Amino acid sequence: MAAEPSLTDGIIAAQFGRDGDDLLIGGVRAGDLAREFGTPLYAYDAGLIRRAYRGLADALSGFARIHYSIKANPNVEIVRLLLAEGAGVEIASLGEYRAARQAGADPGDILFAGPGKRRHELEEVVRDGIGEIHLESLEEIAALDAVAGAAARRVAVAIRINPVAEVQGGAMRMGGKPAPFGFDEEEADAVVDRISASARLDLTGVHLFAGTQILDAEVLATQWRHGLDVAGRIARRLGRPLHTVDLGGGLGIPYFQGDGALDLAALKAAVPALIAAKGADPFLRDAAVVVEPGRYLVGPSGIYLSSVIAAKVSRGQRFLVVDGGMHHHLAASGNLGMIVKRDYPVVAANRMDVAERQPASVVGPLCTPLDTLARKASLPLLSAGDLVAILQSGAYGVSASPVGFLSHDRPAEVLVDGGIARRIG
Ligand SMILES: Cc1ncc(COP(=O)(O)O)c(C=O)c1O
Repeated sequence: MAAEPSLTDGIIAAQFGRDGDDLLIGGVRAGDLAREFGTPLYAYDAGLIRRAYRGLADALSGFARIHYSIKANPNVEIVRLLLAEGAGVEIASLGEYRAARQAGADPGDILFAGPGKRRHELEEVVRDGIGEIHLESLEEIAALDAVAGAAARRVAVAIRINPVAEVQGGAMRMGGKPAPFGFDEEEADAVVDRISASARLDLTGVHLFAGTQILDAEVLATQWRHGLDVAGRIARRLGRPLHTVDLGGGLGIPYFQGDGALDLAALKAAVPALIAAKGADPFLRDAAVVVEPGRYLVGPSGIYLSSVIAAKVSRGQRFLVVDGGMHHHLAASGNLGMIVKRDYPVVAANRMDVAERQPASVVGPLCTPLDTLARKASLPLLSAGDLVAILQSGAYGVSASPVGFLSHDRPAEVLVDGGIARRIG
């Protein structure tokens, strides 16, 4: 039986390329990046971000607009790049709001979600005329009502629904589980009535977010179809058509051997039925549909590059101690919500041509066994000064990591665009 193709080799071929022994990022050698900017560093290929955006925009054409979920990577230059492609923005904090504004986003093109928005956050975004605020609790309805009153503004809001059907492990599951996000679908009517009673809040939209890291196009389409149904019911309760239906993010990328990439052609093939379903509902016909992916747009573009400090063997097990670690890349260490810890794709970025591989654990400089970036990597025999790159690292990287833990420096962030690398963080 033929061996399963290696995920890592597939990613290198489709996203990066190599020049002899060197991994290329946007055409630039990893070794050159390491020399110029020092390690550890994150490098992002702008071309891959554009490619992901354009591919998805094409698949969703005529159905949905893309709002970039900044939490995946809030670097202002990355946000700027996606704005230039035509994306709107989804934020979940004032810090993200300011990053979006700094990148040039129009407040009207920003959606604000998150279960615990604070009053000063609401005040600032209301003052600026934010596009839509997604309400997630009764307290938030009251707080925003007061903020809108004080600012003498009417504020467009969406109700965030925690749906009864959700995606789990790539399959739809009925009977949604308890969640602190939004309102349970079962309680939506009462919440609609409560918001409608406010003269300051204009209920214009419905927002659903039912899962992350979904790799199955059919599951996504089913989830979105359910989202349209929920939105239609809410509009009926409201008694008027909606302006926006936000179907959430959650589009996945392959991280582990055996993961298949999301099939964009299959997603595109499901779109006409979604357009038809929306068009058939007079309460939704004129609504703008939004999807708000984060990971899918930026995840494949990034590598996390570190240098080997020591190569050692302990009781028969090989360890590569590198200068980067979980404090910069918590997700790769498996400590960001991963139940079974599995390795991200990892390569020796300056030894790409070496065919002979050995098992090795890649560990960081922190004094804790949690600081393991790869447990069962298959790498050439590396020594001090060699480079190790973790792929699929453009989303939920440094901003999702405990950078203060053990007080090391932050990693450099570098954007490679048109063959030119520049520091962006
Ligand atoms: C409200 C909301 N929108 C969008 C996202 C982005 O998710 P993903 O990066 O999986 O697309 C998240 C992730 O947690 C979220 O909570």
